[in-house]
Amino acid sequence: MRRKIKFGIIGCGLMGREFASAAARWCHLKTDLPAPEIAGVCDVSPDAMGWFTDNFPGIRSAVTDYRELLAASDIEAVYCAVPHNLQEEIFINAIKAGKHLLGEKPFGIDKAANDRIFDEIGRHPELVVRCSSEFPYYPACQALFKWISEGRFGRILEVRSGFLHSSDMDVNKAINWKRQAKYNGEYGCMGDLGVHTQHVPFRAGWIPVNVFAKLSKYVAERPDKCGNMADCDTYDNAVLVCDVKDKDGAVFPMYLEMKRMSPGSTNEWYLSVYGLEMSARFNTADPNALCYTDSWGKEQAWARVTIGYKPVFPSITGEIFEFGFTDAILQMWAAFISELDGRHAEFGCFTPEETRWSHLLLTAALESHKENKIADIKY
Ligand SMILES: NC(=O)c1ccc[n+]([C@@H]2O[C@H](COP(=O)([O-])OP(=O)(O)OC[C@H]3O[C@@H](n4cnc5c(N)ncnc54)[C@H](O)[C@@H]3O)[C@@H](O)[C@H]2O)c1
Repeated sequence: MRRKIKFGIIGCGLMGREFASAAARWCHLKTDLPAPEIAGVCDVSPDAMGWFTDNFPGIRSAVTDYRELLAASDIEAVYCAVPHNLQEEIFINAIKAGKHLLGEKPFGIDKAANDRIFDEIGRHPELVVRCSSEFPYYPACQALFKWISEGRFGRILEVRSGFLHSSDMDVNKAINWKRQAKYNGEYGCMGDLGVHTQHVPFRAGWIPVNVFAKLSKYVAERPDKCGNMADCDTYDNAVLVCDVKDKDGAVFPMYLEMKRMSPGSTNEWYLSVYGLEMSARFNTADPNALCYTDSWGKEQAWARVTIGYKPVFPSITGEIFEFGFTDAILQMWAAFISELDGRHAEFGCFTPEETRWSHLLLTAALESHKENKIADIKY
């Protein structure tokens, strides 16, 4: 019988449900990893907890004050998926309460909040604290990362990483907290989508030394639930151009694209690496395929190989089948539990140090945009 790790979920919205669902199909994984058991849930809205209490018999507390959940001594770990303005207080109190934590991005509404979370983590080396980021766990992306680790690209010419949505193209879409800076943060779309574009580049050692940012706001107001118009004051789209030094000190450009208004894109996450020896690109719009250049002497041809279902953590699904978003979530959770259990994770979750780099980059991007200049980044 697998060891059980009792989890509490704070924030029972879209992402809270994804974690609970992943925990419910832990048997999908062919590993001896401990299994998460949802033991408690918390949301300020009692209605949001109904789906959880209906489906998870192990839930012993469903509370509206997160402090009550943190006081439960049998809860070892917490997943926190709340609006960005609440992350600092709840993450810090979860850590102070001695809970392992997987917190959602951007891991603090701004750099000052992230600094304070980071300091608290430093006072608790016994805890495993990580930030959520699931897209790198697509098998085709893992194959691409392996090629990066092996130095297969030769000298890097440029890297492009992006996360694109189109649902905000509907200007009548109702406002929610993600479109309001007081809840979502000044970063806007960069706070929502940024970590996703940075996980693989940072893990590859591609840390930007500077950034030039173009941030756009297209929609100034949206209807609220009552049909009145409410301010929509976050950036919709962001394009960041960064200089990155490779391991030999050569500089190459890295383009990070984060857009809520990208025509035709439905949760489109991509990574393209162009090198002198070879190039490769992965896009969740074609989730099982990896495209790469095959060299024909002086010319290059793009080839496409279907990777199939070959994730980092083996599962019961046959290799010929397709991999998708919920599989990536399950894989990310397997990586987190693996680290929590003191095991080596081949591709670990986004670390607190990486969230620090992310905030340095996004803060510099705001400065760059406002002053229309290239902003240096000091680590
Ligand atoms: N990893 C991903 O792919 C991904 C995708 C979407 C969102 N996110 C992140 O997840 C987090 C939550 O986003 P979401 O889409 O689940 O939002 P959501 O609005 O669907 O859910 C947030 C929940 O938090 C609850 N909440 C608000 N204040 C609370 C409090 N004080 N205590 C407890 N609960 C409270 C709300 O009632 C709501 O149910 C954000 O940080 C977001 O950036 C990550």
